[in-house]
Amino acid sequence: MPPKVEERFIWLSGKIVPVYEANINVLAPTSQFGLNVFEGIRCYWNSEQKELFAFRLADHFKRLKRSQRLLKMEDTFTLEELKEAFIAVIKANEYKEDLAVRQTLFIEGFGSWGSRGPVNMFIAPIPKAKTSPEYNKKGLNCCISSWQRINDNSLSPRIKCGANYINSRMGQLEALENGYDTAIFLNNNGHISEGPGSCLFMVKNGRLITPLLTDSVLESITRDSIITLAHDLDIKVEERTIDRTELYNADEAFLCGSSMEITPIFSVDHYEITKEEGQITKRLHTAYLAAVCGKNAKFSHWLTPVYNSQK
Ligand SMILES: Cc1ncc(COP(=O)(O)O)c(C=O)c1O
Repeated sequence: MPPKVEERFIWLSGKIVPVYEANINVLAPTSQFGLNVFEGIRCYWNSEQKELFAFRLADHFKRLKRSQRLLKMEDTFTLEELKEAFIAVIKANEYKEDLAVRQTLFIEGFGSWGSRGPVNMFIAPIPKAKTSPEYNKKGLNCCISSWQRINDNSLSPRIKCGANYINSRMGQLEALENGYDTAIFLNNNGHISEGPGSCLFMVKNGRLITPLLTDSVLESITRDSIITLAHDLDIKVEERTIDRTELYNADEAFLCGSSMEITPIFSVDHYEITKEEGQITKRLHTAYLAAVCGKNAKFSHWLTPVYNSQK
């Protein structure tokens, strides 16, 4: 039986401990300055195969290492060690359901914002159900944020670090206070970038369009998966800069990410886009859910079985 959420096991410093014993020093640079890089990794339970599949694990670890490198944090864990620890902590919790797993590399010790180490890691899995056609009947009413997205010459959105989410926080809180579900940021060139924790796609005249990776967005793994799935479904994809008013006139739009998967946008700044999930969004959502759960053999290379893994 999996433990209660408040007693679940966390991987910290090479040990698997109950969450209330997984503590970090208050003076550590991660506590004081948000000096950490992380990944939010999904796992999906396939009840027919009785297997839990981690989605694009190797790609998450590669991005984690790129974030770590850009912040000049010491490189202490090999790719194999990242994977072994990930699998060990899920097994310790005996989870056989859909999960979101937070894997974080952080600077501990008594240094400051300039410290490169010591680098340690924690891994925290938590049950999280996936979206469904039913869930997607409710779309998002979004606003364009008055806060600009961080950019590559200040704090790069390419780095998935805790501190970047202060910008996300400002956009999200402003959106909620003004009665919207979430925000869409413009970048410092005034073009559409991304949501506080997600990437954006729009559909126009049957074509799927998403901002460039150089338009101040995270190198999203879901974005990449959707582009691949779209090609497979014969949907034309354009990666290009998007103007704000182009988005207002879109035929469909959605936000995507490991956490929200594919969630339709119904309006932006009160410009209605659709009343219900659009046809292309629906096709991609169905294809995405099939791929992540191991129900489309074409994309089985994206999946790492947790329980029958070699390690
Ligand atoms: C700012 C931001 N953009 C995009 C994404 C989507 O990235 P991914 O698909 O890799 O989860 C996330 C979520 O991690 C995010 O926080």
